[in-house]
Amino acid sequence: MKYFHYRENHLYCEETLVQELAEEFGTPIYIYSKNQLLENYRAINNALAGVDHVTCYALKANSNHELLKLLVAEGSGADAVSAGEIYLALRAGFDPQKITFAGVGKRDDEIEFALKKNIYSFNVESMQELEVINQIAGRMKRRARVALRINPDIDAATHPYISTGLKSNKFGIDIAVAPQSFAYAASLPNIIMDGIHTHIGSQILKIEPFVQTATTVANLVKELRANGVNIHHIDFGGGFGVQYKNAVTHPLLPVEQTTEADEAPSLETFISSVLPILKETGCRLFFEPGRSIVANTGILVSKVLYRKDNGVKKFVIIDGAMTDLLRPSLYQAYHQIVPLTLNEKEKEIVDVVGPVCESGDFLAKERTVQNVQRGEYLAALTAGAYGMVLTSHYNARPKIAEVLVNGEKVRVIRERETIEELK
Ligand SMILES: Cc1ncc(COP(=O)(O)O)c(C=O)c1O
Repeated sequence: MKYFHYRENHLYCEETLVQELAEEFGTPIYIYSKNQLLENYRAINNALAGVDHVTCYALKANSNHELLKLLVAEGSGADAVSAGEIYLALRAGFDPQKITFAGVGKRDDEIEFALKKNIYSFNVESMQELEVINQIAGRMKRRARVALRINPDIDAATHPYISTGLKSNKFGIDIAVAPQSFAYAASLPNIIMDGIHTHIGSQILKIEPFVQTATTVANLVKELRANGVNIHHIDFGGGFGVQYKNAVTHPLLPVEQTTEADEAPSLETFISSVLPILKETGCRLFFEPGRSIVANTGILVSKVLYRKDNGVKKFVIIDGAMTDLLRPSLYQAYHQIVPLTLNEKEKEIVDVVGPVCESGDFLAKERTVQNVQRGEYLAALTAGAYGMVLTSHYNARPKIAEVLVNGEKVRVIRERETIEELK
Protein backbone atom coordinates (compact mmCIF):
# COMPACT_ATOMS: atom_id res chain seq x y z
CA MET A 1 0.00 0.00 0.00
CA LYS A 2 2.56 2.48 -1.16
CA TYR A 3 0.18 5.44 -1.04
CA PHE A 4 0.01 5.15 2.76
CA HIS A 5 3.38 6.00 4.24
CA TYR A 6 5.09 7.77 7.12
CA ARG A 7 6.75 11.10 6.65
CA GLU A 8 8.64 12.40 9.69
CA ASN A 9 6.78 9.82 11.79
CA HIS A 10 3.31 10.95 10.71
CA LEU A 11 1.04 8.76 8.60
CA TYR A 12 0.09 10.18 5.22
CA CYS A 13 -2.39 9.10 2.62
CA GLU A 14 -0.78 10.27 -0.59
CA GLU A 15 0.18 13.92 0.18
CA THR A 16 -2.37 14.34 2.98
CA LEU A 17 -1.73 14.07 6.70
CA VAL A 18 -4.15 11.45 8.02
CA GLN A 19 -4.47 13.05 11.44
CA GLU A 20 -5.78 16.25 9.89
CA LEU A 21 -8.52 14.23 8.20
CA ALA A 22 -9.39 12.52 11.49
CA GLU A 23 -9.61 15.90 13.22
CA GLU A 24 -11.59 17.56 10.44
CA PHE A 25 -14.07 14.80 9.66
CA GLY A 26 -14.14 12.90 12.96
CA THR A 27 -13.63 9.24 13.74
CA PRO A 28 -14.12 6.38 13.09
CA ILE A 29 -13.53 7.09 9.43
CA TYR A 30 -12.53 5.26 6.26
CA ILE A 31 -9.84 6.98 4.23
CA TYR A 32 -9.10 5.86 0.67
CA SER A 33 -6.30 6.60 -1.76
CA LYS A 34 -7.54 7.29 -5.28
CA ASN A 35 -4.18 6.58 -6.86
CA GLN A 36 -3.77 3.24 -5.10
CA LEU A 37 -7.17 2.20 -6.45
CA LEU A 38 -6.26 3.19 -9.99
CA GLU A 39 -2.88 1.51 -9.76
CA ASN A 40 -4.42 -1.77 -8.57
CA TYR A 41 -7.04 -1.79 -11.32
CA ARG A 42 -4.46 -0.98 -13.97
CA ALA A 43 -2.12 -3.72 -12.73
CA ILE A 44 -4.84 -6.30 -13.44
CA ASN A 45 -5.69 -4.82 -16.78
CA ASN A 46 -2.03 -4.56 -17.79
CA ALA A 47 -1.50 -8.21 -16.90
CA LEU A 48 -4.35 -8.98 -19.30
CA ALA A 49 -3.17 -6.66 -22.08
CA GLY A 50 -3.66 -8.12 -25.54
CA VAL A 51 -6.17 -10.67 -24.25
CA ASP A 52 -9.89 -10.40 -25.07
CA HIS A 53 -11.03 -9.83 -21.51
CA VAL A 54 -13.34 -7.96 -19.16
CA THR A 55 -12.33 -7.10 -15.60
CA CYS A 56 -15.56 -7.18 -13.63
CA TYR A 57 -14.88 -5.47 -10.31
CA ALA A 58 -16.72 -7.36 -7.53
CA LEU A 59 -18.96 -4.72 -5.97
CA LYS A 60 -19.39 -6.74 -2.81
CA ALA A 61 -15.88 -5.72 -1.73
CA ASN A 62 -16.74 -2.02 -1.63
CA SER A 63 -19.64 -0.39 -3.43
CA ASN A 64 -19.06 3.28 -2.63
CA HIS A 65 -20.53 5.28 -5.52
CA GLU A 66 -17.48 7.51 -6.01
CA LEU A 67 -15.07 4.56 -6.04
CA LEU A 68 -17.31 2.80 -8.56
CA LYS A 69 -17.27 5.87 -10.77
CA LEU A 70 -13.47 5.84 -10.81
CA LEU A 71 -13.55 2.23 -12.00
CA VAL A 72 -16.18 3.01 -14.65
CA ALA A 73 -13.87 5.71 -16.02
CA GLU A 74 -11.15 3.04 -16.30
CA GLY A 75 -13.48 0.85 -18.39
CA SER A 76 -14.17 -1.73 -15.68
CA GLY A 77 -17.08 -4.14 -15.73
CA ALA A 78 -19.00 -5.20 -12.60
CA ASP A 79 -19.65 -8.46 -10.80
CA ALA A 80 -22.93 -8.22 -8.89
CA VAL A 81 -24.63 -10.61 -6.49
CA SER A 82 -27.98 -8.94 -6.04
CA ALA A 83 -30.42 -6.61 -7.77
CA GLY A 84 -29.12 -3.98 -5.37
CA GLU A 85 -25.58 -4.35 -6.66
CA ILE A 86 -26.79 -4.31 -10.28
CA TYR A 87 -28.66 -1.10 -9.47
CA LEU A 88 -25.58 0.47 -7.86
CA ALA A 89 -23.41 -0.59 -10.81
CA LEU A 90 -25.83 0.93 -13.33
CA ARG A 91 -26.22 4.09 -11.28
CA ALA A 92 -22.43 4.52 -11.29
CA GLY A 93 -22.41 4.13 -15.08
CA PHE A 94 -21.18 0.57 -15.68
CA ASP A 95 -22.07 -0.75 -19.13
CA PRO A 96 -24.83 -3.39 -18.63
CA GLN A 97 -23.02 -5.55 -21.16
CA LYS A 98 -20.10 -5.71 -18.73
CA ILE A 99 -22.20 -6.79 -15.73
CA THR A 100 -22.34 -10.39 -14.54
CA PHE A 101 -24.78 -11.63 -11.90
CA ALA A 102 -23.73 -14.42 -9.52
CA GLY A 103 -25.22 -15.73 -6.26
CA VAL A 104 -26.85 -18.96 -5.08
CA GLY A 105 -30.20 -17.39 -4.22
CA LYS A 106 -31.39 -15.04 -6.94
CA ARG A 107 -35.03 -14.11 -6.33
CA ASP A 108 -37.49 -14.05 -9.24
CA ASP A 109 -37.80 -10.27 -9.09
CA GLU A 110 -34.01 -9.96 -9.20
CA ILE A 111 -33.85 -12.18 -12.30
CA GLU A 112 -36.55 -10.06 -13.93
CA PHE A 113 -34.69 -6.88 -13.02
CA ALA A 114 -31.41 -8.20 -14.47
CA LEU A 115 -33.16 -9.25 -17.70
CA LYS A 116 -34.85 -5.87 -17.99
CA LYS A 117 -31.53 -4.13 -17.53
CA ASN A 118 -29.96 -6.32 -20.21
CA ILE A 119 -26.92 -7.43 -18.20
CA TYR A 120 -24.30 -9.54 -19.94
CA SER A 121 -24.65 -12.85 -18.14
CA PHE A 122 -26.19 -14.78 -15.26
CA ASN A 123 -23.65 -16.91 -13.43
CA VAL A 124 -26.02 -19.76 -12.63
CA GLU A 125 -25.46 -21.74 -9.44
CA SER A 126 -28.00 -24.60 -9.65
CA MET A 127 -30.15 -26.43 -12.19
CA GLN A 128 -33.32 -25.25 -10.52
CA GLU A 129 -32.15 -21.63 -10.85
CA LEU A 130 -31.42 -22.30 -14.55
CA GLU A 131 -34.99 -23.50 -15.07
CA VAL A 132 -36.42 -20.47 -13.31
CA ILE A 133 -34.30 -18.12 -15.45
CA ASN A 134 -35.49 -19.99 -18.56
CA GLN A 135 -39.15 -19.60 -17.50
CA ILE A 136 -38.87 -15.93 -16.56
CA ALA A 137 -36.94 -15.09 -19.75
CA GLY A 138 -39.63 -16.92 -21.79
CA ARG A 139 -42.39 -14.98 -20.07
CA MET A 140 -40.51 -11.74 -20.83
CA LYS A 141 -39.90 -12.85 -24.45
CA ARG A 142 -36.14 -12.66 -23.98
CA ARG A 143 -33.21 -15.03 -23.99
CA ALA A 144 -30.82 -14.99 -21.05
CA ARG A 145 -27.11 -15.46 -21.60
CA VAL A 146 -25.74 -17.72 -18.89
CA ALA A 147 -22.52 -19.19 -17.61
CA LEU A 148 -22.85 -22.19 -15.33
CA ARG A 149 -20.81 -21.80 -12.17
CA ILE A 150 -19.00 -25.04 -11.60
CA ASN A 151 -17.86 -26.18 -8.20
CA PRO A 152 -14.52 -27.84 -8.99
CA ASP A 153 -14.03 -29.32 -5.48
CA ILE A 154 -10.66 -27.61 -5.12
CA ASP A 155 -9.34 -26.49 -1.75
CA ALA A 156 -8.41 -22.79 -1.96
CA ALA A 157 -6.60 -23.08 1.41
CA THR A 158 -8.31 -19.98 2.80
CA HIS A 159 -10.59 -19.29 5.78
CA PRO A 160 -13.57 -21.72 5.68
CA TYR A 161 -16.06 -18.80 5.58
CA ILE A 162 -14.55 -17.50 2.32
CA SER A 163 -13.79 -20.83 0.68
CA THR A 164 -16.32 -21.45 -2.09
CA GLY A 165 -14.93 -24.14 -4.39
CA LEU A 166 -15.35 -27.24 -2.24
CA LYS A 167 -18.12 -29.82 -2.52
CA SER A 168 -19.09 -28.95 1.05
CA ASN A 169 -19.74 -25.31 0.02
CA LYS A 170 -23.13 -24.15 -1.25
CA PHE A 171 -21.74 -22.62 -4.43
CA GLY A 172 -21.91 -23.81 -8.01
CA ILE A 173 -22.80 -27.00 -9.83
CA ASP A 174 -20.87 -30.15 -9.01
CA ILE A 175 -18.12 -30.67 -11.58
CA ALA A 176 -19.06 -34.36 -11.74
CA VAL A 177 -22.40 -33.53 -13.40
CA ALA A 178 -21.12 -30.59 -15.46
CA PRO A 179 -21.32 -32.22 -18.94
CA GLN A 180 -25.02 -33.16 -18.52
CA SER A 181 -25.80 -29.79 -16.95
CA PHE A 182 -24.30 -27.80 -19.82
CA ALA A 183 -25.98 -30.00 -22.44
CA TYR A 184 -29.34 -29.52 -20.69
CA ALA A 185 -28.81 -25.74 -20.47
CA ALA A 186 -27.96 -25.60 -24.18
CA SER A 187 -31.29 -27.35 -24.94
CA LEU A 188 -33.44 -24.73 -23.17
CA PRO A 189 -35.22 -22.35 -25.53
CA ASN A 190 -34.74 -19.13 -23.60
CA ILE A 191 -31.14 -19.70 -22.55
CA ILE A 192 -27.99 -18.72 -24.43
CA MET A 193 -25.51 -21.23 -23.03
CA ASP A 194 -22.35 -19.20 -23.34
CA GLY A 195 -19.84 -19.58 -20.55
CA ILE A 196 -18.25 -21.36 -17.62
CA HIS A 197 -18.00 -19.52 -14.34
CA THR A 198 -15.94 -20.43 -11.32
CA HIS A 199 -14.83 -18.67 -8.15
CA ILE A 200 -13.08 -20.82 -5.58
CA GLY A 201 -12.83 -18.39 -2.68
CA SER A 202 -11.36 -15.18 -1.40
CA GLN A 203 -8.01 -14.11 0.11
CA ILE A 204 -6.28 -17.00 -1.63
CA LEU A 205 -2.52 -16.74 -1.27
CA LYS A 206 -1.42 -19.87 -3.10
CA ILE A 207 -1.03 -20.09 -6.85
CA GLU A 208 -1.65 -23.83 -7.04
CA PRO A 209 -5.46 -23.86 -6.46
CA PHE A 210 -5.87 -21.29 -9.25
CA VAL A 211 -3.73 -23.35 -11.64
CA GLN A 212 -5.71 -26.50 -10.77
CA THR A 213 -8.98 -24.63 -11.33
CA ALA A 214 -7.83 -23.17 -14.65
CA THR A 215 -6.79 -26.63 -15.82
CA THR A 216 -10.15 -28.10 -14.77
CA VAL A 217 -12.03 -25.33 -16.61
CA ALA A 218 -9.89 -25.61 -19.77
CA ASN A 219 -10.43 -29.39 -19.84
CA LEU A 220 -14.16 -28.91 -19.39
CA VAL A 221 -14.28 -26.46 -22.32
CA LYS A 222 -12.64 -29.13 -24.52
CA GLU A 223 -14.99 -31.85 -23.32
CA LEU A 224 -18.08 -29.71 -23.83
CA ARG A 225 -17.01 -28.67 -27.32
CA ALA A 226 -16.42 -32.32 -28.19
CA ASN A 227 -20.03 -32.92 -27.08
CA GLY A 228 -21.32 -30.10 -29.27
CA VAL A 229 -21.73 -27.44 -26.56
CA ASN A 230 -19.69 -24.43 -27.58
CA ILE A 231 -18.34 -22.21 -24.80
CA HIS A 232 -17.45 -18.63 -25.65
CA HIS A 233 -16.45 -17.14 -22.35
CA ILE A 234 -14.78 -18.17 -19.12
CA ASP A 235 -15.44 -16.17 -15.98
CA PHE A 236 -12.61 -17.12 -13.67
CA GLY A 237 -13.93 -15.20 -10.64
CA GLY A 238 -11.76 -13.33 -8.16
CA GLY A 239 -10.06 -14.34 -4.94
CA PHE A 240 -6.53 -13.02 -5.37
CA GLY A 241 -5.13 -12.56 -1.88
CA VAL A 242 -3.54 -9.42 -0.50
CA GLN A 243 -0.87 -8.67 2.10
CA TYR A 244 -2.33 -7.82 5.50
CA LYS A 245 0.81 -8.09 7.65
CA ASN A 246 3.61 -5.53 7.40
CA ALA A 247 1.50 -3.65 4.87
CA VAL A 248 3.31 -0.50 6.00
CA THR A 249 6.81 -0.75 7.43
CA HIS A 250 8.92 1.71 9.41
CA PRO A 251 11.85 1.27 11.80
CA LEU A 252 9.58 2.36 14.68
CA LEU A 253 6.84 -0.16 13.83
CA PRO A 254 7.05 -3.72 15.12
CA VAL A 255 7.83 -6.26 12.42
CA GLU A 256 4.84 -8.59 12.25
CA GLN A 257 5.59 -12.29 12.38
CA THR A 258 4.71 -13.92 9.10
CA THR A 259 4.76 -17.38 7.67
CA GLU A 260 4.78 -18.33 4.02
CA ALA A 261 1.00 -18.41 4.29
CA ASP A 262 0.86 -14.64 4.92
CA GLU A 263 2.81 -13.57 1.85
CA ALA A 264 0.69 -12.48 -1.12
CA PRO A 265 2.04 -13.05 -4.61
CA SER A 266 1.64 -10.05 -6.90
CA LEU A 267 -1.46 -9.71 -9.06
CA GLU A 268 0.74 -10.16 -12.11
CA THR A 269 1.97 -13.49 -10.71
CA PHE A 270 -1.56 -14.72 -10.05
CA ILE A 271 -2.76 -13.80 -13.51
CA SER A 272 0.29 -14.96 -15.44
CA SER A 273 0.06 -18.38 -13.77
CA VAL A 274 -3.41 -19.06 -15.17
CA LEU A 275 -3.45 -16.98 -18.32
CA PRO A 276 -1.65 -19.39 -20.67
CA ILE A 277 -4.01 -22.21 -19.62
CA LEU A 278 -7.15 -20.14 -20.07
CA LYS A 279 -5.98 -18.46 -23.28
CA GLU A 280 -5.53 -21.86 -24.93
CA THR A 281 -9.32 -22.21 -24.98
CA GLY A 282 -9.74 -19.18 -27.24
CA CYS A 283 -12.54 -17.98 -24.92
CA ARG A 284 -13.14 -14.39 -23.93
CA LEU A 285 -11.90 -14.11 -20.33
CA PHE A 286 -13.66 -12.48 -17.41
CA PHE A 287 -12.07 -11.89 -14.00
CA GLU A 288 -13.94 -10.68 -10.92
CA PRO A 289 -11.39 -9.19 -8.52
CA GLY A 290 -12.70 -7.34 -5.50
CA ARG A 291 -10.28 -7.41 -2.61
CA SER A 292 -7.17 -7.09 -4.78
CA ILE A 293 -8.51 -3.83 -6.21
CA VAL A 294 -9.71 -2.11 -3.04
CA ALA A 295 -8.22 -3.69 0.10
CA ASN A 296 -5.00 -1.69 0.27
CA THR A 297 -6.66 1.50 -0.92
CA GLY A 298 -8.36 2.05 2.44
CA ILE A 299 -7.70 2.40 6.15
CA LEU A 300 -10.02 2.76 9.12
CA VAL A 301 -8.94 5.45 11.58
CA SER A 302 -10.23 5.38 15.16
CA LYS A 303 -9.58 7.50 18.22
CA VAL A 304 -8.42 6.08 21.53
CA LEU A 305 -11.13 6.62 24.13
CA TYR A 306 -9.82 4.79 27.17
CA ARG A 307 -7.17 2.42 28.44
CA LYS A 308 -7.73 -0.36 30.90
CA ASP A 309 -5.35 -2.79 32.58
CA ASN A 310 -6.91 -5.56 34.67
CA GLY A 311 -3.61 -7.12 35.64
CA VAL A 312 -4.09 -9.92 33.12
CA LYS A 313 -4.70 -7.92 30.01
CA LYS A 314 -4.31 -4.43 28.72
CA PHE A 315 -7.14 -3.01 26.63
CA VAL A 316 -7.04 -0.02 24.33
CA ILE A 317 -10.66 1.02 23.82
CA ILE A 318 -11.20 2.92 20.59
CA ASP A 319 -14.24 4.53 18.99
CA GLY A 320 -14.10 2.17 15.98
CA ALA A 321 -15.90 -1.14 16.45
CA MET A 322 -17.02 -4.39 14.86
CA THR A 323 -19.89 -2.36 13.42
CA ASP A 324 -17.33 -0.42 11.38
CA LEU A 325 -14.89 -3.22 10.50
CA LEU A 326 -16.37 -6.66 11.05
CA ARG A 327 -13.62 -8.82 9.55
CA PRO A 328 -11.65 -9.45 12.78
CA SER A 329 -14.82 -10.48 14.67
CA LEU A 330 -16.30 -12.44 11.78
CA TYR A 331 -13.31 -14.54 10.85
CA GLN A 332 -10.44 -13.50 13.06
CA ALA A 333 -9.03 -11.52 10.13
CA TYR A 334 -5.78 -9.71 10.72
CA HIS A 335 -5.36 -5.99 10.13
CA GLN A 336 -2.11 -4.25 10.92
CA ILE A 337 -2.82 -1.60 13.58
CA VAL A 338 -0.59 1.46 13.55
CA PRO A 339 -0.53 4.80 15.38
CA LEU A 340 -0.94 7.90 13.23
CA THR A 341 2.11 9.37 14.95
CA LEU A 342 5.13 7.22 15.68
CA ASN A 343 7.40 7.86 18.62
CA GLU A 344 10.07 6.08 20.65
CA LYS A 345 7.64 5.19 23.46
CA GLU A 346 7.63 1.61 24.72
CA LYS A 347 5.54 -0.91 22.83
CA GLU A 348 3.06 -3.07 24.69
CA ILE A 349 0.85 -6.06 24.06
CA VAL A 350 -2.80 -5.06 24.06
CA ASP A 351 -6.26 -5.97 22.83
CA VAL A 352 -7.61 -3.19 20.64
CA VAL A 353 -11.37 -3.23 21.26
CA GLY A 354 -14.44 -1.21 20.35
CA PRO A 355 -17.40 0.14 22.35
CA VAL A 356 -19.94 -2.49 21.22
CA CYS A 357 -21.46 -4.75 23.85
CA GLU A 358 -19.91 -7.98 22.60
CA SER A 359 -16.69 -9.63 23.70
CA GLY A 360 -16.25 -10.37 20.01
CA ASP A 361 -15.89 -6.65 19.33
CA PHE A 362 -12.18 -6.28 18.69
CA LEU A 363 -9.92 -5.11 15.91
CA ALA A 364 -6.84 -6.89 17.26
CA LYS A 365 -5.99 -9.25 20.07
CA GLU A 366 -2.68 -9.66 21.87
CA ARG A 367 -1.10 -7.20 19.50
CA THR A 368 2.20 -5.36 19.97
CA VAL A 369 1.36 -1.68 19.52
CA GLN A 370 3.12 1.53 20.48
CA ASN A 371 1.75 2.87 23.76
CA VAL A 372 -1.14 5.19 22.85
CA GLN A 373 -3.16 7.39 25.18
CA ARG A 374 -6.67 8.84 25.20
CA GLY A 375 -7.11 11.23 22.28
CA GLU A 376 -4.46 9.61 20.07
CA TYR A 377 -5.37 7.74 16.92
CA LEU A 378 -4.91 4.23 15.57
CA ALA A 379 -5.39 3.07 11.99
CA ALA A 380 -6.39 -0.42 10.87
CA LEU A 381 -4.65 -0.89 7.54
CA THR A 382 -5.74 -2.70 4.39
CA ALA A 383 -9.37 -2.07 5.31
CA GLY A 384 -10.73 -0.98 1.92
CA ALA A 385 -12.30 -4.34 1.05
CA TYR A 386 -15.13 -5.96 2.99
CA GLY A 387 -14.95 -3.03 5.42
CA MET A 388 -17.61 -0.39 4.81
CA VAL A 389 -19.89 -2.90 3.07
CA LEU A 390 -20.05 -5.03 6.21
CA THR A 391 -20.88 -2.17 8.57
CA SER A 392 -24.05 -2.30 10.64
CA HIS A 393 -26.20 -0.19 12.91
CA TYR A 394 -25.86 -2.62 15.82
CA ASN A 395 -26.00 -0.79 19.17
CA ALA A 396 -27.66 2.05 17.19
CA ARG A 397 -24.30 3.20 15.91
CA PRO A 398 -24.63 5.52 12.89
CA LYS A 399 -22.74 4.54 9.74
CA ILE A 400 -19.38 6.21 9.51
CA ALA A 401 -17.91 8.62 6.94
CA GLU A 402 -15.67 7.82 3.99
CA VAL A 403 -13.12 10.18 2.50
CA LEU A 404 -11.22 9.97 -0.77
CA VAL A 405 -7.72 11.43 -1.09
CA ASN A 406 -6.04 12.38 -4.33
CA GLY A 407 -2.65 13.89 -3.57
CA GLU A 408 -3.47 16.91 -1.40
CA LYS A 409 -7.12 16.94 -2.47
CA VAL A 410 -9.74 15.48 -0.16
CA ARG A 411 -13.37 14.67 -0.81
CA VAL A 412 -16.03 13.25 1.51
CA ILE A 413 -17.53 10.36 -0.44
CA ARG A 414 -20.00 9.30 2.25
CA GLU A 415 -21.28 11.63 4.89
CA ARG A 416 -21.30 10.39 8.44
CA GLU A 417 -24.82 9.43 9.53
CA THR A 418 -26.26 11.29 12.47
CA ILE A 419 -28.17 9.65 15.31
CA GLU A 420 -31.30 11.46 14.10
CA GLU A 421 -31.05 9.56 10.81
CA LEU A 422 -31.24 6.18 12.56
CA LYS A 423 -34.40 4.23 11.74
C1 LIG B 1 -18.66 -14.83 -7.36
C2 LIG B 1 -17.61 -13.97 -6.79
N1 LIG B 1 -16.82 -13.28 -7.61
C3 LIG B 1 -15.84 -12.45 -7.13
C4 LIG B 1 -15.64 -12.31 -5.77
C5 LIG B 1 -14.57 -11.38 -5.30
O1 LIG B 1 -13.58 -12.03 -4.59
P1 LIG B 1 -12.30 -11.24 -4.09
O2 LIG B 1 -12.76 -10.04 -3.38
O3 LIG B 1 -11.61 -12.19 -3.20
O4 LIG B 1 -11.48 -10.91 -5.30
C6 LIG B 1 -16.44 -13.02 -4.88
C7 LIG B 1 -16.21 -12.91 -3.43
O5 LIG B 1 -16.34 -13.78 -2.66
C8 LIG B 1 -17.46 -13.88 -5.40
O6 LIG B 1 -18.26 -14.56 -4.58
